[in-house]
Amino acid sequence: MLQKVTRSTVIDAPIERVWAVLRDFNSHDQWHDVVQASHIEGSERSDQVGCIRNFTLKDGNHIREQLLTLSDTTYTSTYCIVQATVPLQRYVASLKLKPVTDGKRTFWHWESTFDTPPGQEETLRDMVAQGVYEAGFENLRRYLRQGGDLRSQGQVELPTGVAIASRGMAVRRYGDADTIRAVDTQVAAPGPGQVRIAQRAIGVNYIDVYLRRGWIPQMLPVSDREPGVLGMEAAGTVIDVGPQVTGFLPGDRVAYIGPQPGAYSTVRRVPADWVVRLPVQIEIETAAALLLKGVTADYLLRDLGRVGPGTRLLVHAAAGGVGLLVCSWAKRLGAQVIGTVSSDEKARVARAFGCEQVIVTRNYQFADAVQQACGGADVVIDGLGETARDENLAALARRGHWISLGQATGALNMPADALIAKSLTFSRPVVFDYVNTPALMAQRAQRVWDALDSGALKMPPIERYSLEAAPQAHARLESRGSSGPLILTC
Ligand SMILES: NC(=O)c1ccc[n+]([C@@H]2O[C@H](COP(=O)([O-])OP(=O)(O)OC[C@H]3O[C@@H](n4cnc5c(N)ncnc54)[C@H](OP(=O)(O)O)[C@@H]3O)[C@@H](O)[C@H]2O)c1
Repeated sequence: MLQKVTRSTVIDAPIERVWAVLRDFNSHDQWHDVVQASHIEGSERSDQVGCIRNFTLKDGNHIREQLLTLSDTTYTSTYCIVQATVPLQRYVASLKLKPVTDGKRTFWHWESTFDTPPGQEETLRDMVAQGVYEAGFENLRRYLRQGGDLRSQGQVELPTGVAIASRGMAVRRYGDADTIRAVDTQVAAPGPGQVRIAQRAIGVNYIDVYLRRGWIPQMLPVSDREPGVLGMEAAGTVIDVGPQVTGFLPGDRVAYIGPQPGAYSTVRRVPADWVVRLPVQIEIETAAALLLKGVTADYLLRDLGRVGPGTRLLVHAAAGGVGLLVCSWAKRLGAQVIGTVSSDEKARVARAFGCEQVIVTRNYQFADAVQQACGGADVVIDGLGETARDENLAALARRGHWISLGQATGALNMPADALIAKSLTFSRPVVFDYVNTPALMAQRAQRVWDALDSGALKMPPIERYSLEAAPQAHARLESRGSSGPLILTC
């Protein structure tokens, strides 16, 4: 009687990664413990239907199998034994993958039918079920966790499980851009819930300047013995993951945002909860340039500003990192976008990103122009702070909403009574509270990538600096000369 063996499992890796290994008909000697050696006969490719693989098993047996079907669209393949020293007769097997709906995992179904000599049915069924399929599931899991698939392609170079040298850019005492200096450290293997990342690009944000100056000392304590490494976001590839981490594998392209500084470094360990895997179309430098700023634009426009058709939106530093993203996204949402910038050149850039009316001012005089342009702003997105306070109050429309997200000119002193005259509302948000769960982080990051895909977010020009040039990047940001995001590259 024909025997049938069926096994299935879920692998903690996206389908593309699992399929890349399994579609290679000659890959088993790299990941399956029972296979000693494998080669494809003749000069055929290992994904060519009809090709024959020749296995030597660790127990000394030999098996020749032929690939019968292979589909990259349905993630399926079938194959049969054409010759074997094990008594499996008329053996035909198929494997099928399906993505689990969370997009991070893969359902793998493996089955076969075969005949056996009389009396050996149970032994051979157990051998296929446990020795081939169940062991194969475990072996592939281990192979992916160690980055074996990417290591064999030279894409994972760093060792796993041991401390790795890292160079960081840090401050020993608060001050100007030239207080930022290189520090060399060792980054230990990731602990429970952590991911260790080989960083390739790091986002520079204005909060890095506040931290360097000592404006938020509780967030970045510094001393000679313990220099404070700057930086709140970066992107790169996973080196290894700690216990209890699911959804990430060595070699995965990832980016993160986190409320604890330390991102200006070549290698970093961070909680897996901060991290998102990058879609194939998002380059690592794009992720570092856009993740924190894009997520900020998302919560500003969607959650706080509730920006939609006709919203009169005033955006300060409209040609800046956050500014350009806010302008282009708000324009797509139908808002009337009015921006302030400090130069004609920046005005040109802001207009190209959807800012309809641009006010050029270096000394924060804009309220009259805003009132003339639209009769007052429904929402102000303000990263300027104290020096622009009274102008913001004057520029807002009745029942307008003032979102104070930064303080490039100094800490804002805002008595609640100042809001009464026009029934204004006021928010003082911080991006980290809008991505404080893995689900929220993933959702907002996805919205940024989708907006980029659809053109709602126009890709801004990126200014690149090497990691060691962090002082120059800071000086540039503070000079008011930059447009769009700045990144450091490793
Ligand atoms: N709370 C949050 O969740 C959050 C998240 C991200 C960013 N932010 C804030 O959003 C603002 C923009 O951040 P960003 O990283 O995208 O920086 P950015 O806008 O690229 O750079 C800052 C810009 O601020 C303007 N500025 C005005 N007065 C300035 C001064 N005295 N010194 C320096 N710059 C001055 C400059 O534009 P002009 O020369 O055109 O005026 C400058 O280009 C910052 O205030 C930042 O702290 C807050």
